[in-house]
Amino acid sequence: MSDLIADIMKLKKERNAVILAHLYQPGEIQEIADFVGDSLDLSRKAANTNADVIVFCGVHFMAETANILSPDKIVLLPAADAGCRMAEMISGAALAKKKAEMPNAVVVAYVNTTAEVKSLSDICCTSANAIKIVNSIPKDKDILFVPDKNLGAYVSEKTNRKMEFWPGFCPVHHGLFVEEVEDMREEHPNAKVLAHPECPADVLAKADYIGSTTEIINYAKASAHDEFIIATECGVFHQLEKDNPKKKFYLASDSMVCPNMKKISLEKIKKSLETLEPRVIVPAEMREKAVGSLTKMLEVCR
Ligand code: 13P
Ligand code: SF4
Repeated sequence: MSDLIADIMKLKKERNAVILAHLYQPGEIQEIADFVGDSLDLSRKAANTNADVIVFCGVHFMAETANILSPDKIVLLPAADAGCRMAEMISGAALAKKKAEMPNAVVVAYVNTTAEVKSLSDICCTSANAIKIVNSIPKDKDILFVPDKNLGAYVSEKTNRKMEFWPGFCPVHHGLFVEEVEDMREEHPNAKVLAHPECPADVLAKADYIGSTTEIINYAKASAHDEFIIATECGVFHQLEKDNPKKKFYLASDSMVCPNMKKISLEKIKKSLETLEPRVIVPAEMREKAVGSLTKMLEVCR
């Protein structure tokens, strides 16, 4: 164990801290985390931890979600500037304006949103439970799905529900061209394509399996196949290769890297545990309005 990792472990104990990491984090961070998972796994963990301090290795909306669900804990985001470009595509003011045009609509917010947007939404969802969440909404209700138009279109097709979509997207997934997937398929004809639902519809149409990051990892592990083209952010390779040393994985495009997910480092985690900064704190008034949409999600998919 390096000195740096030993220092982190010591500080973690002193602070009674838990380190949560998203599957898109760099491998060395996934290795030292107490728990690694997708957005749904991480929100569940954050809601049920006994730790005093949550070190969130992910992006800002994830740390905000942890603070909304566990307001009495100190939530640290070791890189304060790790935002999510999709979450930045919708503001509270813009959503409020749209809601005024659709007064009867149920607002379903992907967790990749700010606390303010969650506070204006009826129910949250993640990529792992979006179909279940939409199916829980009475058939006679209109739905406004924000902010990911690709996830929205996928869920709309799977649930056979018409919805209005916000025109947002994840630049990392939306930037994957179907031609890149076709080229990879030609190069690796025996490989199965596993895609995240943030990818555009023409890419999803080529996929053998569509799921959240945890679902992709579970699928690859359980599958009898031994070659896969992965259409999601490159961070999942750490777990995929660890779980399946004999299987081969190819990233659908070299551009599938989320720069914000790579802003956290072991040095920043150590500093964060020393200083208990930078903290993510959702103001109480905002938290009280936002918590309902998250707890409703957790209740529907218990
Ligand atoms: P999941 O964690 O739900 O797979 O979503 C991926 C993502 O974009 C997180 O930023
Ligand atoms: Fe946001 Fe996309 Fe990065 Fe996830 S991968 S944090 S959705 S920009």
